[in-house]
Amino acid sequence: MNVFPKDFLWGGALAACQAEGAYLQEGSGMAVSDISFFDPKLDREDLSKHRHVTTQNIEVAMADPGTTRYPKRHGIDFYHRYREDIALCAEMGFKVFRFSIKWSRVFPTGEEAEPNPEALAFYDRVLTEIEHHGMTPLVTISHFEMPLALVNRYNGWADRRVIDLFYRYADSLFEHFGQRVPYWISFNEINAGRFSTFKSTGVVEDKSDNYLQACYQAVHHQFVAAAKITKRLHEVNPKAQMGCMIARFTTYAATSKPEDVLQMMHDDQYDNFFYTDVMVRGAYPGYMGRFFREHHVEIVWGDEDETLLKQYPADYLAFSYYVSNVSSAAPDDLDVTDSNLKQTLKNPYLESSAWRWQIDPKGLRYTLNNLYDRYQIPLFIVENGLGAEDSVSEDGQIIDTYRIDYLQRHIEQMKEAIIDGVDLIGYTTWSSLDVVSSGTSEMSKRYGFIYVDLDDEGQGTLKRIRKASFYWYRQVIASNGEDLAFREAAALKR
Ligand code: BG6
Repeated sequence: MNVFPKDFLWGGALAACQAEGAYLQEGSGMAVSDISFFDPKLDREDLSKHRHVTTQNIEVAMADPGTTRYPKRHGIDFYHRYREDIALCAEMGFKVFRFSIKWSRVFPTGEEAEPNPEALAFYDRVLTEIEHHGMTPLVTISHFEMPLALVNRYNGWADRRVIDLFYRYADSLFEHFGQRVPYWISFNEINAGRFSTFKSTGVVEDKSDNYLQACYQAVHHQFVAAAKITKRLHEVNPKAQMGCMIARFTTYAATSKPEDVLQMMHDDQYDNFFYTDVMVRGAYPGYMGRFFREHHVEIVWGDEDETLLKQYPADYLAFSYYVSNVSSAAPDDLDVTDSNLKQTLKNPYLESSAWRWQIDPKGLRYTLNNLYDRYQIPLFIVENGLGAEDSVSEDGQIIDTYRIDYLQRHIEQMKEAIIDGVDLIGYTTWSSLDVVSSGTSEMSKRYGFIYVDLDDEGQGTLKRIRKASFYWYRQVIASNGEDLAFREAAALKR
């Protein structure tokens, strides 16, 4: 029996700000991602400083037109190589291709009355290429690349006026591409607003009188914006679906002590469920009322916000899953490690990646069941993968068995979850090709099935090379998830 539904959406993902490059070409404006710097002395033991951006960082970056220190400005040159890249993904048999549109390419300062026609022409060509290969596009409208001008003028999403500017941007996408794209995601990992605030919301700490208030107000504005554009999308194309997305920080209690279990419950509520409860159930959950009171946060609501949230929830729930975390009422007694977008406590039962992210395939089955039990709407895993250093052998091979092993073990757990009764509609791994790392702007942290010849300093031929995982994933898709075995000989023969 084939466990995965026959129309299961297998594929891969990438994001404009990590892949496109061409950051000021054809009328594009600067985005928050274009000031994210690479530090040659990067300390993998302490990645937290990469999540913090000050007004001074922005000024320094704006004064430097180069790309070396700011690798997201050159990305992997997807802007010029999208045809080859999309064709390679099609060769793996992708059913779905997840990519994002760069807001600052379409509206360079965020405030123009009309979209940049060259940007629309570019995304039109990308979509045509995806369609040409018979793949389904999945488009993220906002993936960590808001126009930098909106940061400087409004302190990002902290200002309510940004809702209308975003609406104008999204509406222009629906007008041009609304009939061609069946699956959309409003905000990539909307809970990143709390952990990597700047890249997700453009809010700068030293520009905010009350930073925590500004973070949550920004997220509230994103919730309202997502509801508004969901309404609009359904008017333009009633068949199209708008997903909400979180970075799923599945967390376990450090011990069976009731205090630790309660801490786990709170972490789950504050870090995960708050976002999906609002976007799927359409209302703020009670536990946040208490959290806000105790943290002196008072969300300012617009007259229509409550109705919008209630009437226009997400059609499906998308999430990224890389790691699991640990919760404890006495965190100071435990070792800390890194995780996606934030730090967490060490789980002695799990191994970790070279970047100290804890690998937990079984946690994916738990997560899928947990989310489906709570919301009963289709789930879509839109990111999952292993960041690792790959090396090219003298004969040009990249045998990334560690990546295959990681993905294999996660797909096995997806299968179990489907047997458990979970409605899982698709899986796009992170990432289709190697791209610039979101967290550290490195190239050496690679996730792709396709190697891109580029180093951390931006040197390289940009040549694309199929890794062993490329051939393996092709076989997984061709067998609709049934044949997960890795045959090294088959990969080496090519
Ligand atoms: C997710 C982001 O948080 O994790 C991606 O949506 C990102 O943009 C991915 O690349 C992996 O994170 P990193 O920091 O290893 O690139």
